[in-house]
Amino acid sequence: MGVLLEVKNISVGTRRNGEFIGILENVSFKLNKGETVGIVGESGCGKSMTALTIMGLLSKNIFVESGTVNYEDKELTKLPTTELNRLRGKEISMIFQEPMTSLNPSFTIGNQLAEVYKHHGNFSAKEIRQKSLEILSKVKISDPEDKLKAYPHQLSGGMRQRVMIAMALACSPKIMIADEPTTALDVTVQAQILDLINELQAGFNTSVLFITHDLGVVAETCHRMIVMYAGQIIEEGTVAEIFDHPSHPYTSGLMLSAPRLGSAIKRLKTIKGVVPDIDNMPTGCRFAPRCPYATDICFEKAPFLEKMSETRGVRCWHKL
Ligand SMILES: Nc1ncnc2c1ncn2[C@@H]1O[C@H](COP(=O)(O)OP(=O)(O)OP(=O)(O)O)[C@@H](O)[C@H]1O
Ligand code: SF4
Ligand SMILES: [Mg+2]
Repeated sequence: MGVLLEVKNISVGTRRNGEFIGILENVSFKLNKGETVGIVGESGCGKSMTALTIMGLLSKNIFVESGTVNYEDKELTKLPTTELNRLRGKEISMIFQEPMTSLNPSFTIGNQLAEVYKHHGNFSAKEIRQKSLEILSKVKISDPEDKLKAYPHQLSGGMRQRVMIAMALACSPKIMIADEPTTALDVTVQAQILDLINELQAGFNTSVLFITHDLGVVAETCHRMIVMYAGQIIEEGTVAEIFDHPSHPYTSGLMLSAPRLGSAIKRLKTIKGVVPDIDNMPTGCRFAPRCPYATDICFEKAPFLEKMSETRGVRCWHKL
């Protein structure tokens, strides 16, 4: 498996009253060809920020302070917008959490799919129609002919998310970034969409970066996983390694919070406290104020991400 994307020592932040405020701190990971990597963590940990950094879609007040994003022979953080536009959708595409924010309500599905094809190739109207019908069938949309004429609001949430996936896959990208693609959907539809992503990933051999706060979803879809907390990677490894033995107290806490499938009572034991604010980061370990294992060193000195093996890394002074 060759490396397709490498995020290296990325730090991202914003400036407030002339002062730099970090949001992502030294984030590094690789995505191999044909692999699905999950990024998990509570709200505000920097998952979307990581995705937007890769896509070059950070809002104006946010900037990359240091680090690189290497895709094939290109360094994406320094790529001119025109080149980045060419890459987006064709080589790297993204599915957002809420399809209504990325589908235009005033154009039909057919029009929006056609735009994607026009942007990335030189196809005739007939070819575009043919390709649109094919991709809608691939994402298992029934009556694709009718759906081409439909407006986004005429479709159900699950159907809209399928359309988003179709648009993301239209040009057979090498990388698909899915940012919480199923959060807004009910459980049955969620399961169908996950199956679909799994199937398409295998069929197209696409590499997928799967962002979610749901560990069950990670277990079902991913090969490797990255756990983020307060803008840092705090644990990484294969899904089997981490589920078998979470080494970071935060990961362990997340696992205890996840509702157990199959148990009569779905226990929901949340980790006490909240993710620290970006302009009020603890000096030592960022998780220390919430950690049941914290000792003096944890409050004084920030732990580093220790590589335990090729796949495994843990940022903690007292690994479990
Ligand atoms: N435009 C912005 N300006 C300033 N800070 C921002 C901006 N967007 C996000 N942040 C901050 O960056 C941090 C990371 O946000 P991000 O959206 O990446 O979190 P997330 O892990 O995706 O959370 P969620 O699960 O809620 O989507 C948060 O503390 C957030 O408040
Ligand atoms: S370094 Fe200390 S506070 Fe941080 S997670 Fe490990 S034990 Fe907890
Ligand atoms: Mg997010």
